[in-house]
Amino acid sequence: MPYAPEHDEIPNPLRPGLRAESGAEPCAVVIFGASGDLAHRKLVPALYNLAVGAHLPAAFGIVGVSKSEYSHEQFAKDMREAVGKFSRTRPIDEELWQDFGAGMRYCAGSFDDPQTFVKLKATLDELDKSRATRGNRLFYFATPPSTFPVLLKQLKGAGLINPPQDPVFTRVVIEKPFGHDLASARTLNRLVMDCLAERQVFRIDHYLGKETVQNLLVLRFANSIFEPVWDRRYVDHVEITAGEELGIELRGKYYEEAGILRDMIQNHVLQLVCLTAMEPPVAFDADAVRDEKIKVLRAIETFDSTEAVERHVVVGQYAAGSVLGKDVPGYQQEKEVARGSRTPTFVAIKLNIRSWRWDGVPFYLRSGKRMPKRATEIAVHFRRLPHSLFGAGGSQSNVLVIRVQPQEGITLRFSAKVPGERYRPRSVTMDFRYGTAFSMASPEAYERLLLDAMRGDQTLFTRRDEVEAAWKIVGGILKVTESAEFPAPYPYDAGTWGPEESDQLLAGDGRAWRRL
Ligand code: BG6
Repeated sequence: MPYAPEHDEIPNPLRPGLRAESGAEPCAVVIFGASGDLAHRKLVPALYNLAVGAHLPAAFGIVGVSKSEYSHEQFAKDMREAVGKFSRTRPIDEELWQDFGAGMRYCAGSFDDPQTFVKLKATLDELDKSRATRGNRLFYFATPPSTFPVLLKQLKGAGLINPPQDPVFTRVVIEKPFGHDLASARTLNRLVMDCLAERQVFRIDHYLGKETVQNLLVLRFANSIFEPVWDRRYVDHVEITAGEELGIELRGKYYEEAGILRDMIQNHVLQLVCLTAMEPPVAFDADAVRDEKIKVLRAIETFDSTEAVERHVVVGQYAAGSVLGKDVPGYQQEKEVARGSRTPTFVAIKLNIRSWRWDGVPFYLRSGKRMPKRATEIAVHFRRLPHSLFGAGGSQSNVLVIRVQPQEGITLRFSAKVPGERYRPRSVTMDFRYGTAFSMASPEAYERLLLDAMRGDQTLFTRRDEVEAAWKIVGGILKVTESAEFPAPYPYDAGTWGPEESDQLLAGDGRAWRRL
């Protein structure tokens, strides 16, 4: 096994120990799709910031793999530019970069060609020797899903996958979308399982890397005051919004196939539902947490008829409009989008979770592109008072809002007495803001997730059965909304919160979306 203990003694003040205090072991991170957007904007800047925070092991290297022809040096230079542009900490720390950049390698080639993987193996062996990465590999699939099968086969064929019980680890991070529907997710899972054991697989959902999303677990399970009221006896309904002012940018081809249900609901939004609705896990470890999330997904009522979908789901598509004062084109005028496209860019869904805790409490979800602004939040609306002592003004219900982004924080709405000689209640808010409560910047989601993958901690990654359970819910909706008989998505003007029909979905229950 490639193992270079002599490098433990490298006298380098920047590389004092090979293993990081964070628990990340020496390893090489191999990024497939290294010339792409994700590697430039997120992955390498995240790895750089882990180095800045001294979370990376000193014995560490990055290997980029893609078709573009680069030398090692050109790749390192290109990544330096990317870090200079996209890193959350700037300017670049020159001293640190010297060491970080020196651990970069590049391997050009097609994924279909076994020679690419022979070259990759030689590059990794060289890194093991020069950087003491000890044979540990974290392969990152930052590529379109159509490449996942060939990557797995080639890695296996080239002998680059160690058995799970081997102390020298092989782990694979797989980007979303994991499949296109339930059947393809199952096929992909089977293929993954032919090459790897579940504990080597890290299916990424970057929402789970967000501090505010992890804080949901702390809010619920590190406080005693919320749990007693966190159920159908006290909660009237839950509202989850994941809105973006952005359109589809230059991703027309991808988006035409995905649409909002595959792009946001199957993964990010359902993860928010799980963390909001799950039971306390028996321990804070990967399987205990994921077991509870799966129970939520399994308890969500699926829609098995067109009528059920029509009653619970509204799909929309943006038309031209104005967002943050700027005129923007409609979805069908975007690049690589078909005229007459029926791809939804907005969805509102009313879900019921059939469990002792939640049955009968609607979970209203909405997500869309070209909303008036970027806003992701979870609002837990508590039941109204049975009787108000202070007249109509005193019967506003309490709402706990968890702001995932931006202005990360938590707000509680309650009634307070307006000063004066009368009992006049008014709704006020108590506000917690991350930015002011903690005098430190939050790491980016990818920093946390890459570090966890290097530590072998799967808590914030989705398990095989979890992905399939989420597809089951979304697949049931897609089956109906994508059928030719189902009406085309309702148009909405860019810069609004979706079509009117979305408001009617709640109005029918005597409720309304929060104004954001
Ligand atoms: C991605 C989607 O997974 O999440 C994008 O593919 C979306 O369409 C993005 O814009 C939203 O992520 P964030 O972190 O900006 O909320």
